[in-house]
Amino acid sequence: MPHTAEAPDPLLEWRSEFPTVEATLHFASHTLGAMPRGVEEALRHYAQLWKSRGIRAWEDEWFQLPMETGNLLATIFGATPGTVSMCENVTLAQAVALSAVEFAGPRNRLVCTAEDFPSVLYLYEGLARRGAEVVRVPARAGRHVDTADVLAAVDERTAVVALSHVLFRTAEVVDLAPIVKRAHQAGALVLVDAYQAVGTLPVDVKALDLDLMTGGSVKWLCGGPGAGWLYVSPRVAARLEPALTGWFAHADPFAFDSGPTRRDLGARRFMTGTPGIPGFVAARPGYEIVARIGVPAFREKSLRQTARMIALADEYGFGVVSPREPERRGGTVCLDVPRAGEVCQALLDSDVLLDHRPEVGLRLAPHFYTRDDEVELVMKKVRDEVRRLEKGASA
Ligand SMILES: Cc1ncc(COP(=O)(O)O)c(C=O)c1O
Repeated sequence: MPHTAEAPDPLLEWRSEFPTVEATLHFASHTLGAMPRGVEEALRHYAQLWKSRGIRAWEDEWFQLPMETGNLLATIFGATPGTVSMCENVTLAQAVALSAVEFAGPRNRLVCTAEDFPSVLYLYEGLARRGAEVVRVPARAGRHVDTADVLAAVDERTAVVALSHVLFRTAEVVDLAPIVKRAHQAGALVLVDAYQAVGTLPVDVKALDLDLMTGGSVKWLCGGPGAGWLYVSPRVAARLEPALTGWFAHADPFAFDSGPTRRDLGARRFMTGTPGIPGFVAARPGYEIVARIGVPAFREKSLRQTARMIALADEYGFGVVSPREPERRGGTVCLDVPRAGEVCQALLDSDVLLDHRPEVGLRLAPHFYTRDDEVELVMKKVRDEVRRLEKGASA
């Protein structure tokens, strides 16, 4: 049931923290979450510190900032402090993690799926030139990744199972539990790309028993570009020695020791060179809000609003590409409408924020700051634009 004046939606109290959601109809948190008001102040503070303290800014704040930021993220997905390493993006986080895996001998396989994000698929292609045998599990009809197909691809030749938790095109949730179990039975590591999950779907790395997990901040965490992260389970961290590394991964970076590398035992172990401080500074206000509210409340609201969007899509005769079953659906609704690219552009031009992807159509996502009346409004705007274009075509 929609929230009413008698039972107001408590999540909407946070709306005033996000100026963009008042200025636009914001349905794009699967691609770029709204900017928290606190980001401007945080970046101003960053510039002030640099200006006034110069080199001393490292000691004052910057050196510790990546670890503190990782620890804040850890609270969002149930990780132990000291297990989340900050970097620039998911591609780099995965490259670091996979540079610690030997793809040699009989155990040289990386199992992924055809629906993983292209950037990591390109990375796996590169690993194939360096000895990895990449097994790409194909999708079934409707771009569905079937758990049984992934399970069948994993055996004693598998070094790593690397796959998305929520598929970026269709928002299908991949059921990780049986995959993790099978991978571990076979002696393989599990590396999950949780970018489309963390911040909209409750994720608990310990309950899922993940070895490695990557994500970024641009989307559901409302953290903007420049802040990717890698979680490494303490169970495997000490035996992983990334080849893609740098002086920030050293136990004592300021010893400027020429090697061999003595690696840090905490989150710095998986960092590389000088960290991208402004990206992490900008990401923190979003993380703080998400951590404070807690993702379960987001999920409950998201399921209610995305169900309403699907009901309206049925009423308007649009195809629905994302799963209809709540437990299989992430935070995004994908609509198969005619001329999706043109519909998307026309809506963007009128301050409706959404996107589209080839072969799946429009992607729209409410988030915790979305009002119920906006759900109705955005769907009507899509319907009207589709009709306008159809009329134009037949005129
Ligand atoms: C599932 C998933 N993984 C990764 C990315 C992006 O990776 P990167 O941080 O390397 O740009 C995205 C979206 O941009 C995504 O949806």
